[in-house]
Amino acid sequence: MTGKAPTKAPQVRLDRLLANLGYGSRREVAALVMHRQVELDGAALRDAGARIALTPDLSARMTVVGQPLDPPAPLTILMHKPLGVVCSHREAGRSVYELLPRRWQARMPALSTIGRLDKDTSGLLLITDDGPFLHRVISPKHHVPKRYLATLDRPLEGGEAALFSAGTLMLDGETMPLAPAELEVLGPKEARLTITEGRYHQVRRMFAAVGNHVVALHRDRIGGLALPPEMEPGAWRQLSLDEQAAIFA
Ligand code: URA
Repeated sequence: MTGKAPTKAPQVRLDRLLANLGYGSRREVAALVMHRQVELDGAALRDAGARIALTPDLSARMTVVGQPLDPPAPLTILMHKPLGVVCSHREAGRSVYELLPRRWQARMPALSTIGRLDKDTSGLLLITDDGPFLHRVISPKHHVPKRYLATLDRPLEGGEAALFSAGTLMLDGETMPLAPAELEVLGPKEARLTITEGRYHQVRRMFAAVGNHVVALHRDRIGGLALPPEMEPGAWRQLSLDEQAAIFA
């Protein structure tokens, strides 16, 4: 025989699938099934313990209370993070997770942001439940560049690009110099900065190290993935596999 046998979709119990997607406890989702609220290919499922094949088209074939099933894991979201929301459950204030459907906060595996943007930073943010993908994007080993547009309080002086690209800049309180970063000057108080690390408040601290102050910060690119220009602040959608691959291209 030649060629590869098609890989069989993994199977999962219906009640576990729905509970892990945040539809309720195992008991609550069993009640939904009992009340004929879960359908597959147009027919009500009657057994909460039925084994369901996790095919890529499952969300198009299964409905829960008349709505398409939420996308099962692995799920990655591309969001235009608006100003004024935080990236962590632990920080005070409205979080990016609150911009997503409420039940997604109960998903298992949980969704996490891939790196963080400050409350006062807008732009391209990825949110995922795919651990290996998250690590690939943030790991310093992979050098995935992140590009920021910074608006500054004072005019640039001229030596910043050379200093940032030297790989010798030491931030306050740190013991390792920063990896080289690329600065493109767009105007007296505007610049694009591309960094490959994700240290705490890195961009703001880099400009602070040269006596300047960032008054506005926006991320428009992670690797080969750009924030779609038509996407409004606060908007989000599922990231496609091609877009995932584009990050590393
Ligand atoms: N650097 C910062 O200072 N803030 C961000 O949100 C991201 C990078």
